[in-house]
Amino acid sequence: MKKRCCFYPPVMVVIVLISLCCWYPPAAAQDNMKSVDNSDFINPSRSPSVFHHDAHNEKAGITDCNTCHHVYKDGRLVKDESSEDRRCADCHDVKAVGNTPSLRRAFHLRCMGCHATTGRGPVMCGECHQK
Ligand code: HEC
Ligand code: HEC
Ligand code: HEC
Ligand code: HEC
Repeated sequence: MKKRCCFYPPVMVVIVLISLCCWYPPAAAQDNMKSVDNSDFINPSRSPSVFHHDAHNEKAGITDCNTCHHVYKDGRLVKDESSEDRRCADCHDVKAVGNTPSLRRAFHLRCMGCHATTGRGPVMCGECHQK
């Protein structure tokens, strides 16, 4: 009589299927973001701004990544491109360069700007830069 061992093909298939079901992809980096990284500022005077990336964008109903992660070419906004793989500080220096606003101004214009124009979201310093 033939001996069946655990490497019997159907058993292997079941093992592979079980391990596939138990495998979850790692959470994306922005999933767990709770605040904006302020390490590009020399001696930051405020606490980093609260920003629960995914939860914020869901609550605010923002679906276009390039609402924030924009791309400019020759001074023009490129509509369908996104720079989500780059940091704001990759293009925005602590000091403004030509038409490119400083890093602080870029954040304030984008974040506070939307809150102020939509009347939703915090505009007071201490609401974002919480103790
Ligand atoms: C909508 C949220 C928001 C509000 C409101 C806001 N900020 Fe900010 N601010 C940010 C973000 C985001 C940054 C980028 C770095 C960080 O997280 O601190 C920043 C950066 C800064 C910086 C440069 C980094 C540092 O700590 O030195 C200063 C100074 C600052 N803010 C001051 C203020 C002041 C003063 C007010 C009120 C007039 C204010 N902010 C209101 C979001 C906000
Ligand atoms: C309301 C503005 C806003 C929107 C909308 C937005 N993001 Fe972001 N995202 C940020 C900010 C701010 C950071 C931090 C950037 C930095 O540190 O320079 C960030 C960082 C990231 C990072 C880097 C995470 C890390 O820790 O390295 C990824 C990836 C990302 N966003 C993906 C996305 C995707 C995908 C979308 C669309 C589904 C999106 N973002 C929409 C503001 C936004
Ligand atoms: C790939 C480079 C690049 C990245 C990454 C980038 N920016 Fe910009 N941004 C620019 C350039 C270039 C300008 C100047 C555009 C012009 O010529 O008027 C600009 C202008 C701005 C302005 C003023 C004009 C406007 O669109 O309202 C804001 C606000 C701003 N950026 C915020 C941000 C924030 C916040 C982030 C990160 C979430 C970011 N930017 C990431 C290149 C970039
Ligand atoms: C296109 C519009 C828009 C932009 C850009 C935007 N926000 Fe908001 N934000 C909102 C809206 C809408 C709400 C209110 C959501 C709700 O109903 O609770 C909000 C709420 C918030 C809150 C309070 C609720 C919470 O999630 O804790 C914080 C803090 C905040 N935003 C920080 C930021 C920061 C920091 C940035 C820039 C990196 C930013 N926002 C960019 C629209 C925006």
